[in-house]
Amino acid sequence: MYLEQLQCPRCEETYAADELRNLCDCGSPLLVRYDLGRLRDEVPRSDVERGRDDMWRFSAFLPVPEGEIVSLGEGMTPLYSLDGYAGQIDMDNILIKDEGYNPTGTFKARGAACGISMAAHLGAETVAMPTAGNAGGAWSAYAARAGLGCVIAMPEDAPEITMKECSLYDARTYLVRGLISDAGRIIGEACGKYGWFDVSTLKEPYRIEGKKTMGLELAMQLGWRVPDVIVYPAGGGVGLIGIWKALDELERVGWIGSERPRMVAVQSEGCAPLVRAFESGRTDSDFWEEATTIAGGIRVPKALGDFLVLEAIYASDGRAVAVSDEEIVEALHAVARADGSFICPEAAAAVAGVRQMREDGDLALDDEVMVINTGSGLKYADLVEADIPVLDVDDEIIISPEEG
Ligand SMILES: Cc1ncc(COP(=O)(O)O)c(C=O)c1O
Ligand SMILES: [Zn+2]
Repeated sequence: MYLEQLQCPRCEETYAADELRNLCDCGSPLLVRYDLGRLRDEVPRSDVERGRDDMWRFSAFLPVPEGEIVSLGEGMTPLYSLDGYAGQIDMDNILIKDEGYNPTGTFKARGAACGISMAAHLGAETVAMPTAGNAGGAWSAYAARAGLGCVIAMPEDAPEITMKECSLYDARTYLVRGLISDAGRIIGEACGKYGWFDVSTLKEPYRIEGKKTMGLELAMQLGWRVPDVIVYPAGGGVGLIGIWKALDELERVGWIGSERPRMVAVQSEGCAPLVRAFESGRTDSDFWEEATTIAGGIRVPKALGDFLVLEAIYASDGRAVAVSDEEIVEALHAVARADGSFICPEAAAAVAGVRQMREDGDLALDDEVMVINTGSGLKYADLVEADIPVLDVDDEIIISPEEG
């Protein structure tokens, strides 16, 4: 175990890592710190390369004690190229890291596995959270596995499958006539009253550690190097912050050098607080009024960790880009047709962001661009309009050679 303490990235205050803790007293999220010097001396890279076939091969970089891991086999998701789509937008090298292969079908499984393992380890009995949908599905599943109580609140227009997941895993599930920010307020009040552990995005320090494994993994999968650009569909931005933290830790243990990808956050034009902040050179964001987009995972009007996302973007000479819902739907279909991959609408926003950056001259033909497909498109069947002919089996069946 290399876990040392929790540290505030804003005021530097530190806290013990062996008790349940939400935010820093100053209101900032807390980050987990490790003894990376000792890790560097004791853990060879080759150990990790030969490790178990999920994200827990990186357990030296994670806070969960051995024997306390709650896992459904999350992580070690594939990397593959989008040659067809890349050709259409005059690029040579677009890679997808496909998080749709995770338990519950999204990258949220990584944060939930780590967060639930720690909540159980540190003695929580019930966890509670607001969600756009996918995190609720993931945390309910891992809570069921750990035997913890789980309370979920989500917008009433979240994907129906995610409501059913929460209910199936026996979480107490509520639909809110409002946004994730409204759900967050309701959950916060209930946690205060009933003593539940609030596991909202970045309100506990361990979800980000699970998501960090995306960064550890992608560097390993590329042979301990980084791509030129990482494009991430940012809601709370936790995945982006996690990947950035992972690359910093890998450099500190000497497994990669100082090179960094340009970090790009993509949002929807209907909810783009990070893009607005970036475009005016600010280091934090304002609440986005009347947020609306079909990509529910990135419909987050104000991210608690906005300053951390923006810090990574500025430090890496990256960008924040907004795309329209029409472009999102178009990219989702284009990738499916050209490359056989059904990505989620959030990742389709990221893909549309790549197209926009290429058109703006912000990406070179041979830039190696990695898009994080944060979830499987299979959870969003509603977004696909399929006009499929029905054959009547009582008649003679004739299929025309032009159709189907
Ligand atoms: C499919 C999907 N992609 C992206 C996101 C945004 O994640 P983050 O909080 O890391 O920005 C979410 C969050 O709900 C999601 O469900
Ligand atoms: Zn602080």
